[in-house]
Amino acid sequence: MTLPRAQLLTAADRFGTPLYVYDAAELDAALARVRSAFGKGRVYYAMKANPNLTLLRRLRAAGVGFECVSAGEIARAEHVGASGDALLVNGPAKSAEEYAAGARLGATFIVDRAEEAALLPPRSKALVRVNPALAVSTHDHLATGAASSKFGVTPEQAPGVLRALRAAGHDARGLHVHIGSAIRDASDFSAAFARLAELRPQTGELEVLDVGGGWGVDADLLGIAQAAWGAATVFGAQLWVEPGRYLVARAGTLLTRVVGTKRTGRNFLLTDAGMTELLRPMLYGAQHPITALWDDPQPAAARERWDVAGPACESGDLLARDVSLPSPRPGDLLAVGEAGAYGASMSSSYLTRSRPAEALWDGTGWTLIRRRETPQEVWAAEVPS
Ligand code: LLP
Repeated sequence: MTLPRAQLLTAADRFGTPLYVYDAAELDAALARVRSAFGKGRVYYAMKANPNLTLLRRLRAAGVGFECVSAGEIARAEHVGASGDALLVNGPAKSAEEYAAGARLGATFIVDRAEEAALLPPRSKALVRVNPALAVSTHDHLATGAASSKFGVTPEQAPGVLRALRAAGHDARGLHVHIGSAIRDASDFSAAFARLAELRPQTGELEVLDVGGGWGVDADLLGIAQAAWGAATVFGAQLWVEPGRYLVARAGTLLTRVVGTKRTGRNFLLTDAGMTELLRPMLYGAQHPITALWDDPQPAAARERWDVAGPACESGDLLARDVSLPSPRPGDLLAVGEAGAYGASMSSSYLTRSRPAEALWDGTGWTLIRRRETPQEVWAAEVPS
């Protein structure tokens, strides 16, 4: 957690909970770390990690482009002024609307299958996504470069797809690889990049090598960058990267209040946030650091262990299992850390819960950057509503 406790208490009082808070300085620092590791590499933020317009504008102002995977994300990119070489349009099953919007904005498409040569708008800019079919050290749902993943074409197919794109009149600029998400082991990346570099005799020189994102928050960026540049150099290519989590995870914290407790063989600490605000613990068994923001007179050794559970009618609705916390009282505040990536963006209105508010700390004050939804907004698209 990067923000002082006093600021977190203020934000919770002012905007209510559950609340996502972001520290602009940490976002800027993460971008600076990426830039210093990757040097001249071009940075495309994978906005699926957190598409809040205020964060997008901040990144755009710093010269960052965007990787988009839906018509909605493309619309967000356009809304904050990104087009041309600041835009990548990706996805394994793009719609006609997505092709048209990407072409109108001059985006580069990441081609995921051979058939796309005939689906892309005329004279599209394109990269071919390669699935290196390697073991990837992350949760199964987060591995995209394994043999069983649905993404990309095989290394053997890739040179032929580049040729087919060119034959169809497209500007096939190079190759793309993204092996998965929340990967900590730099050797997974170097193996994947080396597999691509083996294709150099068949592809010839390329304009672009895009090595995706997927870096865990503690990943060895320098090691990944070195391997990426090694492969880019083999192709004589520019290097492009697409970090999502790394840029925003640490900048974000979910604030939630204690609703109450109960002891039924296990100790449950019930909070006002759960799977509808932060799905990752339930979906991937993700472990987010949880910090108690109340005064703690107890010695740490006397603390009990708690399952931190949300308000949904689902047994899997847990933020954490078996964490040591001081004695909670209703109204006490908990901070769930490393929640800036895939937290708010994967929140849902299941149970007609209002998606949470979001606020940004810019070093001097708080700004509300998304207000809490109302129930009426949740059902607004239903007809008649
Ligand atoms: N590029 C491509 C082609 C991607 O598919 C992704 C993420 C990224 C870049 C950014 O990956 P990152 O740097 O954020 O790891 N919902 C999951 C994460 C799914 C990531 C999907 N693709 C989670 O909560 O962990």
